[in-house]
Amino acid sequence: MTHIHPHEEIENKRKVKEQLLNQHSVAIWMSGLSGAGKSTIALELEKMCTQQGFVTQILDGDNIRTGINKNLSFSDDDRKENLRRIAEVNKLFISCGIITINSFISPTEASRKTARSVIGADNFVEVYIDAPLEVCEQRDVKGLYKKAREGKITQFTGIDSVFEKPKHADITVDTVHNTAEECARKIFDYIKLIVSVERRLC
Ligand code: ADX
Repeated sequence: MTHIHPHEEIENKRKVKEQLLNQHSVAIWMSGLSGAGKSTIALELEKMCTQQGFVTQILDGDNIRTGINKNLSFSDDDRKENLRRIAEVNKLFISCGIITINSFISPTEASRKTARSVIGADNFVEVYIDAPLEVCEQRDVKGLYKKAREGKITQFTGIDSVFEKPKHADITVDTVHNTAEECARKIFDYIKLIVSVERRLC
């Protein structure tokens, strides 16, 4: 990085913003197969946070990939770049005091590790949205598994592209035996102490 001189004071305003919002910011990073329930849980979790007075921003694969990352494919390299950029976006929200709810397949241990290290381990809660491939394929909410089986979509996660089950998740939620609301509640119960200012001041 030559001739670039970042202004540290621009990035040092987190405490002030957290005080304004009366919360502590954190990145909630949900990974899991397509169809596991990530986006539905993200919306439920955001609703719970809002009801309790916490300001959040959902960052979701399908949305991000139609905007900031619309030039990226599903090759291994582009998935890596997708998640690297998202991690950088997370840093901006975190420094603005906002809680992020991330919903990305994030298929490899390496990509989740990169996200954790870019965002900072202290600011990172990893959640595995657990539903086996057979169930996701049966649900096939977007019809993508069918297309992948027919060869109409390639490099599809779980079919002809890898998904490594997270080994370091802080929380795992099982969407086969629990509703989206129950899963979101479990995540909310875990993060509420982290995001609440009262506890940080103790
Ligand atoms: S990631 O692997 O780079 O983390 P991301 O979460 O951004 O993936 O995007 C996943 C979403 O893109 C899926 O929910 C699905 O709707 C859509 N999608 C389209 N093509 C693929 C593919 N080849 N593999 C997985 N998801 C795909």
